[in-house]
Amino acid sequence: MITLGEGNTPLLAAPRLSARFGVELWLKCEGANPTGSFKDRGMAVAVTRALERGAAGVVCASTGNTAASAAAVVITSRGAVARGKIAQARAAGADIREVDGTFEDAHREARRLADEEGFVNVNSINPDRIEGQSSAAREVVQQLGRVPDLLALPFGGGGNTVAYAVGFGERLPRFVLGEAERRKDTFASAIRITEPVHRVEVGGVLQRSGGTLVTLSEEQIEEAWRLVAREEGVFCEPASAAGLAAVAASVTDAGQSVVCVLTGHGLKDPDATERLAA
Ligand code: F0G
Repeated sequence: MITLGEGNTPLLAAPRLSARFGVELWLKCEGANPTGSFKDRGMAVAVTRALERGAAGVVCASTGNTAASAAAVVITSRGAVARGKIAQARAAGADIREVDGTFEDAHREARRLADEEGFVNVNSINPDRIEGQSSAAREVVQQLGRVPDLLALPFGGGGNTVAYAVGFGERLPRFVLGEAERRKDTFASAIRITEPVHRVEVGGVLQRSGGTLVTLSEEQIEEAWRLVAREEGVFCEPASAAGLAAVAASVTDAGQSVVCVLTGHGLKDPDATERLAA
């Protein structure tokens, strides 16, 4: 079993944001995982299973966090990954290959390597990733003592949305998803994904849970990011604030319990913080 001690991340009450939005708001701090993002949950399972099957290696495409978590063969979009994440993949000795293209191009290349070189792809199309990541939903229920009314998440490729739905099982909270309007070049670089691979499944989760998808401007993401940092003292990366931004932009019944999943740590992307100083 390959583990660095994933999970058991804090679920923090957010009293100031609760007062501001008229709900009972909680922050699930996934940046407290060993490599600083939610990806560690699924990666522990996926890498363990890949070893068990005698894989020659593991490979992934990444906007950075999957890379930092997997630290294997990593395909990234040239110049589009936050510095902290590249540093982490390097530290673990990953073979980092940059493509001139989008995340989708990197994803295709990772799949090709998996097919042709006997590697296991550890992107979220790998069911072991989803299974491992689903633990976060069960943890939220344990920590809160019930299923929250609302669950707010950033929506990049949609793997995390699918994983939470699996983890909650029959009783889904209403999913509130925030996606960047500028999917191609948003400053929230973790979710620079133009063609979400799980789009259809995400549509199903929204329908089954009576959820909503909010398309966010750069300013909306930035404002939510600043709010979490300034009001609650929790420093997450920009993409992680998309769930809160979606809550802020949608009408929510007073007093409802809302869990905002903050998917990654703020230190991952030091360059982005210049926006906060302004
Ligand atoms: N938040 C962070 C911090 C992420 O790194 C990602 C995705 C998401 C949200 C979106 O999650 O794709 O499951 O909807 N990061 C991937 C990566 C693409 O390569 O690290 P999703």
